[in-house]
Amino acid sequence: MSHPTPHYHTALSGVVVASSSRVSRCVSSNGSIFFVHDITDGLPQEYSLCDLLYTEIPWRHGYEVFAKRSGHSGVGYRAFLNAVASIIVTRCVPVIVVGGSGIRSIMPPTGAAMHINLNGSPAVAYCYGVTPPTHHTTTDLLVWLSERFTCCGDFCCGYGRALLPWLRSGKTVVGSDNNANCIGVIKDTLCG
Ligand SMILES: C[S@@+](CC[C@H](N)C(=O)[O-])C[C@H]1O[C@@H](n2cnc3c(N)ncnc32)[C@H](O)[C@@H]1O
Repeated sequence: MSHPTPHYHTALSGVVVASSSRVSRCVSSNGSIFFVHDITDGLPQEYSLCDLLYTEIPWRHGYEVFAKRSGHSGVGYRAFLNAVASIIVTRCVPVIVVGGSGIRSIMPPTGAAMHINLNGSPAVAYCYGVTPPTHHTTTDLLVWLSERFTCCGDFCCGYGRALLPWLRSGKTVVGSDNNANCIGVIKDTLCG
């Protein structure tokens, strides 16, 4: 596998990493799967391999930015959040959704809502079916999770940075995003 990407897909800067080719799917040498998928269409069967779902979802103001980049206007932000909430309530495995504090009333009631630093900004980790000890950054939280779960799924995976601790441990992951450029960047950097 080639060196993992340090990139993070953010709406806060106009910097977009360009992939060498847009692809709909790639599989890494250790069997990890990455593909284009709009999560408002539901959680696809590829995620049945996962014993944890972890994702960093768009904030309200970033949602439109991401939609423009993906080339799909899609559903509105509220419908997107409802789709995420629906995955949480029908879950068979623990789920952690990292997002803004403003979505607390839409997210299902949670055992743990942890204030946490995400890529330099304050965020909340909404935790279902798992109650991690307090971590100050998502980077530290992800290392803790990667030591306890064998296959992590991220259905808004961007450039795949959240999944790196698993890949660095030789574990498999499943990732999807509705932006084909993101899967192309993952193909360039993580699929080797
Ligand atoms: C905050 S970014 C995630 C960044 C990611 N953790 C990384 O390492 O780059 C949110 C991601 O959600 C994706 N996204 C937005 N709407 C989506 C949808 N309806 N279905 C799937 N992905 C979506 C965006 O394209 C973006 O990559």
